[in-house]
Amino acid sequence: MNRIAWKCPVCGASLLPEYQKKPYVMRCCADHSFDIARQGYVNLLLAKKRSSASPGDSAEMVSARTAFLGGGYYRAFSDGVSAACLDLLGENGLQRAVIADAGCGEGYYTQNLCRYLGEHGIDAACVGFDLSKDAVTHASSCAKRASMADRLSYAVASIFELPLADACCDGIINLFAPVAVKEFDRVLKKDGFLLCAVPGERHLWGLKEAVYDTPYLNEVRRDVLDGFVLTEVRRIEDCVTICTQEHIRALFSMTPYYWKTAKEDTEKLSRLQTLKTEIVFDLLLYRKR
Ligand SMILES: C[S@@+](CC[C@H](N)C(=O)[O-])C[C@H]1O[C@@H](n2cnc3c(N)ncnc32)[C@H](O)[C@@H]1O
Ligand SMILES: [Zn+2]
Repeated sequence: MNRIAWKCPVCGASLLPEYQKKPYVMRCCADHSFDIARQGYVNLLLAKKRSSASPGDSAEMVSARTAFLGGGYYRAFSDGVSAACLDLLGENGLQRAVIADAGCGEGYYTQNLCRYLGEHGIDAACVGFDLSKDAVTHASSCAKRASMADRLSYAVASIFELPLADACCDGIINLFAPVAVKEFDRVLKKDGFLLCAVPGERHLWGLKEAVYDTPYLNEVRRDVLDGFVLTEVRRIEDCVTICTQEHIRALFSMTPYYWKTAKEDTEKLSRLQTLKTEIVFDLLLYRKR
């Protein structure tokens, strides 16, 4: 909490953690205060800004993703994200950094990144934001269990209105979540980086072959973002064997195909106990202009 330049979502003043007496809170100079939950996260999403009672991914989506990611199938991808961040910080000669994960979900990549940077000699403070309270609760419980809460924080917040001061982040990762370009531009320091991930042409080809008679390649995406220059595209490829029906179902539910596939095609997956598939991601590395 301490190394992050938090901003009060009500008045915009800076928000500081107070640990003198329980319940711990974050408070601004105008006395707006927000409880720090026992798992360690803070909910900075104002009731009037909520689109529903529980915005963001549901508890079921969070647990499907937790089950799948816990199987380690996307480890190569996660390591690739962490290695790219290390390189991007290195290009700016930084040994100390603040990195935000915008749309962090249950914190799999945030925690791996924070650990990886620490292991590579970077004094990193990482902070994850997500609309889903279920996801953030899970993420901060994991950080607490891993004794990483001093350098890894989480908040429930929209990435379109980040509770962060201007120009306080050295980098942002944004993985499979909406891209809030203007807000990212605001909170990044000069020369800060933005790392986005998009699926490559043959991403999940094995899964698609198992479901569809004529699978299509994914479209190649190279999004142009206002205020940013795309400096590099890094491909991360692996071939994984998913070895339980639960994980196959969990992976499918994480994809857009889950919502648009006919029932008889979806049922083909329930007959499988293992599934071998390519995974292909392109990391789009941007610099703030
Ligand atoms: C597909 S998940 C990806 C989560 C994580 N980055 C990962 O790759 O495992 C997308 C996440 O974005 C979150 N999300 C969607 N809109 C958001 C917003 N406006 N602000 C913050 N989070 C948002 C959802 O709650 C969900 O956890
Ligand atoms: Zn305030």
